[in-house]
Amino acid sequence: MKVQNKSFQPEGIRQTQLIDQLGRTVDYIRLSITDRCDFRCVYCMAEEMTFLPREEVLSLEECARLVKIFVYLGVSKVRITGGEPLVRKNALWLFEDIGKLSGLKELVLTTNGSQLEKQAQDLRNAGVKRINISVDSLDAIRFKKITRTGDLDKVLSGIQAAKLAGFENIKLNTVLMRNFNDDETESLVDFAIKQAIDISFIEEMPLGEINHDRESTCVSNADTLKRLQSKYRLTPSTQSTGGPARYWQVANTITKIGFISPHSHNFCEACNRVRITCKGELYLCLGQENKIDLMPLLRNHPSNDQPLIDAILASMQIKPKGHDFDLRRAQPSVIRFMSHTGG
Ligand code: GTP
Ligand code: 5AD
Ligand code: SF4
Repeated sequence: MKVQNKSFQPEGIRQTQLIDQLGRTVDYIRLSITDRCDFRCVYCMAEEMTFLPREEVLSLEECARLVKIFVYLGVSKVRITGGEPLVRKNALWLFEDIGKLSGLKELVLTTNGSQLEKQAQDLRNAGVKRINISVDSLDAIRFKKITRTGDLDKVLSGIQAAKLAGFENIKLNTVLMRNFNDDETESLVDFAIKQAIDISFIEEMPLGEINHDRESTCVSNADTLKRLQSKYRLTPSTQSTGGPARYWQVANTITKIGFISPHSHNFCEACNRVRITCKGELYLCLGQENKIDLMPLLRNHPSNDQPLIDAILASMQIKPKGHDFDLRRAQPSVIRFMSHTGG
């Protein structure tokens, strides 16, 4: 059988949901469409990276087929990630193909913003609802130092284009690192307030071998919250995006500050997501090795989705309880880079 869209009910086959062995329902996938990126952020990549050859990467048609199968299995939120998803040639085709799927409530995107000036409006028209943009500094020289290749002006223009395009929400993502950018905590919040958008602070996770000591640079979100509370009036928000962030509302503004705190506040208990890499690996947790390979199933069964459906349902049995990130270990908890798994 071939899944067309959510309303398609194959005869004799019950609609099935993705529920893991701990009773958690998976209704959110993060799909990485490329491991490539035009930046080399110091917490995400090594300076010299080897990227996958083209034939080892899912085609956009294969990505779309997977999304349709997951939506058939009850997934209602799809986040497209990378690497940098918008550097993939023809990425817009995928957004247009899946953007109007019935059953898909939220098509969302995480990007470094470098291509947004050109692409924001098309993405919005294709059905992208919300967009998260990484910004770790508002100082052009420092921005270049953190991203190694990034141009802050381009990203700022991208943010303006995203605002004009009318997304339902725009959120900045900032990985705070001691002695890199932690002195910009307040100025980044002020910028978000001025732009009337949200911002999340993310504790750096030990993925891939990089060349700073993460234990000494990691800034605890518990400390960041305390620091911000001395300048802003913050109230806990009940709003949830279905992601790991816990939000606080900044009084008298529409800005919310999110905290993604894998170290200081574990959120795995409520995990509702799995991720698919650009080579078709279905990782059941960002911080563990448990995975199944979907690429052979996609290629060996071009017109029958049932083997894929069966494998995805079975994978729920190997979804781990959670990550065990430990910054004190000399080796990263997970050898693969964030850009491989897609965040
Ligand atoms: P929304 O809540 O939908 O806005 O998305 P998000 O903030 O979860 O997504 P985004 O892609 O912007 O990711 C922000 C940070 O959260 C990145 O560092 C991700 O790696 C991290 N993140 C997202 N999901 C998980 C997760 O399941 N586990 C861990 N440890 N980190 C996650
Ligand atoms: N730890 C935490 N966040 C990371 N990101 C990339 N690498 C890491 C890491 N090691 C963030 C980026 C982007 C999002 C997808 O993940 O800043 O916003
Ligand atoms: Fe590229 Fe995002 Fe990784 Fe930076 S964090 S190198 S922008 S994938």
